Amino acid sequence: MRRALCAIMLFVASVDPSATLGNVGSPELDLSHYYSYEGVMDYLDTLAKDYPNRVFLKDAGRTYENRMLKTITISNGDGVPGKRTIFMDAELHAREWMTPMAALYAIHQLVVNFAENADLLKNFNWIVLPLANPDGYEFSRNSDRWWRNNRSPNGRQCFGTNLNRNFDVAWGQGYSELADPCTESYAGSEPFSEAEARLVRDIMHELVDNGSGTMYLSLHTANRSMFYPWVYESSPTRNHHELKEIARFATDRILRETGTQIKPKQAYYYGGMVGGTSLDYAFKVGFPLSFVFEMSGLAFGVEYKFFPPPTAIRRLTAETWVGIRALAEKAIEKYPPGRAIPAIQRKPVSNRAPGSQDLNILVGLLSTLLAYVASHLTS
Ligand SMILES: *[C@@H]1O[C@H](CO)[C@@H](O)[C@H](O)[C@H]1NC(C)=O
Ligand SMILES: *[C@@H]1O[C@H](CO)[C@@H](O)[C@H](O)[C@H]1NC(C)=O
Ligand SMILES: [Zn+2]
Repeated sequence: MRRALCAIMLFVASVDPSATLGNVGSPELDLSHYYSYEGVMDYLDTLAKDYPNRVFLKDAGRTYENRMLKTITISNGDGVPGKRTIFMDAELHAREWMTPMAALYAIHQLVVNFAENADLLKNFNWIVLPLANPDGYEFSRNSDRWWRNNRSPNGRQCFGTNLNRNFDVAWGQGYSELADPCTESYAGSEPFSEAEARLVRDIMHELVDNGSGTMYLSLHTANRSMFYPWVYESSPTRNHHELKEIARFATDRILRETGTQIKPKQAYYYGGMVGGTSLDYAFKVGFPLSFVFEMSGLAFGVEYKFFPPPTAIRRLTAETWVGIRALAEKAIEKYPPGRAIPAIQRKPVSNRAPGSQDLNILVGLLSTLLAYVASHLTS
C-alpha cells in the first residue's frame, strides 16, 4: 500500500514538476497548498503593488472576528469610464476550500496573464471577493474542517450563520433548520444580519445602481453543477433561455477541454426551494446574469468533495477557470456596450407581509413609467 502511494506521488511529481504559476518578475501563485487567510491577503497586496494601474484593492468590510473582507477590482488600465462589471465571490461556505484557490487562479489569469485574457477586460471590469467568509475559513482550516457558516455567536453556545441563506429573497423559506441557530443551515436572525452578506449586497447594489452590473458568479464546491435562478421557486426567469444557453456553453467547454462533466440547471431543481441565496438576490436586484458554479471535487478518479489533496489544486483551479472564462466570454457577447441591460426584475420577491408585495409592484410600475417618461423627454 505504502509503496503504491509512493509510486503515485512520484508520478504526480514528475507530471507536475513546478507547482507555481507565474512569469518571471511577477507574483507567483503557489498551487501546491491551500492559502491561509493571511496568504490570500498577502497575494492580493503583492498584485496591487506590482500592477498599480490595473489592480485596485479595497478593504471593504470587517467580519465578527475582525478579519478583512478585501475586494480586488481588475481593469485593463485604459481608464475608459462606463464599463460593465463582472462580480465574482468565493468561499461563502467555509469548508469549500477550493473556491478561494479558484478565485485566486482567475485573478492571476486576469492580472498576470493579462495578455492572454485581454479580451475579457476590454469592455468589462471585474470585481472579485476571493474570501467572502474568512472567519469560517480559518475555523474550518484549524478546528473543524466540516464547518460551513461564519462565526457570529447565536447564543446557547451556538455559532455561525449560513451566509448563502442570509440574503433578502424569500428569506427563511424552505425547511425548518433555517430557523435553528445551532445548525449549519441557520439563515441568521434577520435578512442581512451578517456583515459578509451585507458586503456582497452592497457591491451588487452599487453595480446595479450605476448601470454596470452584468454578471454575478458565486463559486461553491463540490456538486459539479452550473446553477442559475431561481432557487426560491420553480418558475423560470424572464431570460431563462439565455441563462441556460450560457451555462450550457460553459459546461460544454469544460467537458471538451478537461473531460469533467458539470450539469447546467435551474437551481430549484437541485434540491428544491430554498430562500436567502446570493444567486437569487443578484438576479432579483437587477443582474441579468447570475450563476453558482458548483466546482468539481473529483481528482485522480476519487470524489474528494470539499477537500481534494493539495496535489489536485492545480488541476481543479485550471478546470474551473475554463468554465469562468467561458461564462465571461458569453456574458460579453450577450451584453456588448450597445445593448441596454434590461430594467430591474419586477417580479415581486418578498418574505414579508402581502402588503409589501403590492408596494413592490407599485414601485416597479412607477419606475417603468418614470423610465418611459425620461426616455421620451431626452429623445
Ligand atoms: C460602478 O461602480 C463600480 C464599483 O465602484 C466601479 O468599479 C465602476 O467603474 C462603476 N461603473 C460605472 C459605469 O460608473
Ligand atoms: C449534487 O446534489 C444532488 C442533490 O442533492 C445529488 O443528487 C448529486 O449526487 C450531487 N452531485 C455531486 C457530484 O455531489
Ligand atoms: Zn456552498
